[in-house]
Amino acid sequence: MPHPAQVLVAWYRAHHRRLPWRQTRDPYAILVSETMLQQTRVETVVPYYERFLRRFPTVRDLAAAAEDEVLKLWQGLGYYRRARHLHRAAQAVVADYGGAFPPSPAAIARLPGVGPYTVGAVCSIAWDLPVPAVDGNVLRVMARYLALAEPVDRAPVKRRIADEVRVWLACARPSELTQALMELGAVVCTPRSPRCGECPLAPTCAARVQGRAEELPVRAEK
Ligand code: ADE
Repeated sequence: MPHPAQVLVAWYRAHHRRLPWRQTRDPYAILVSETMLQQTRVETVVPYYERFLRRFPTVRDLAAAAEDEVLKLWQGLGYYRRARHLHRAAQAVVADYGGAFPPSPAAIARLPGVGPYTVGAVCSIAWDLPVPAVDGNVLRVMARYLALAEPVDRAPVKRRIADEVRVWLACARPSELTQALMELGAVVCTPRSPRCGECPLAPTCAARVQGRAEELPVRAEK
């Protein structure tokens, strides 16, 4: 039997939305898209991403820009700290690495504003490195697939999920698997009314088998 990671990637190849950041393996472009996508919906991000990349096609173009212009292109996306961090990350890539992204998770993690999720997204999507990128979508997909009843916002559960994603990353191409998990969470394994009938993982999904997909994931009380 194929590993669920392979089943999921086969589904992704056939069904994914052709989003503009999926046409590139450029770590700079992926850093831009993942930074924009962190607190903002896909449909909102698309025109901002395209405008931003048109104005700043390379990390050097962004590094050389005035902060005012960067913030102006960000206007309407909100969370302007993201834009300032991105600008400073570009400057660090130029100053410390001569404008070429360092293809090491540890070096990416030291860039301003870059947390574990972004490290995983850039390293897996741009370089096919088996580094997990666990966002809310991935937590939900995995909490359901494994029928984890403990709160997903607790550190041990997050670690358990990241460990499982690492296993999946070893069974498929990381660049496809990372995006496939996000895509499944965004369009099929949705928070409410998950479309289990369309899900490639349904036959082996523990929550589905137990009829509990919609009850999961659980979050700790704030
Ligand atoms: N949300 C975060 N990253 C994403 C990506 N690469 N594609 C679609 N949605 C996302």
